[in-house]
Amino acid sequence: MKKETYQFKYTVYDSIKDLSEEDAWLLAEAREVTENAYAPYSNFHVGAVAKLVNGEIVAGSNQENASFPVGLCAERVLLAAAASLYPKIPIETMAISYRSSVVESDHPISPCGICRQSLQEYEQRVKHPIRLILGGMEGKVYIIEKASMLLPLSFTSEDLQ
Ligand code: THU
Repeated sequence: MKKETYQFKYTVYDSIKDLSEEDAWLLAEAREVTENAYAPYSNFHVGAVAKLVNGEIVAGSNQENASFPVGLCAERVLLAAAASLYPKIPIETMAISYRSSVVESDHPISPCGICRQSLQEYEQRVKHPIRLILGGMEGKVYIIEKASMLLPLSFTSEDLQ
């Protein structure tokens, strides 16, 4: 018997002002595209903006539905758009932000479990890590170098072979 440890490092910035110009721009865009969310049920508006390795920018926002499970998170809307518009082009960095009439948007939120699974498979299929910038409308910002670090011991396509 032996114990294994899983850990990963991420960077914490006090505010968007401490980011590089490019990262700050992406996060500002993610804040902006929260405006495109359709979230009448949760009032939790999420925006995601990604820069692909070819320089293209793709955005996504959460799209809810009266039949609640039909709703899609911003991250997966973005991944579907990126894969459709620019097949096989890796995503370099994705910024995620949110606003809400219910909670203060003053700290980073992290992708949900289903989105982590989708992010993991996207990285694997295009063989490139997705760097995440997580931040609210204000407050601290987290940078995670590889999205799949958020999903240890994940179930992947390799398990089906
Ligand atoms: N949501 C996202 O779009 N991304 C996340 O990372 C967390 C949650 C959405 C789903 C739902 O529309 C609303 O936020 C509340 O859960």
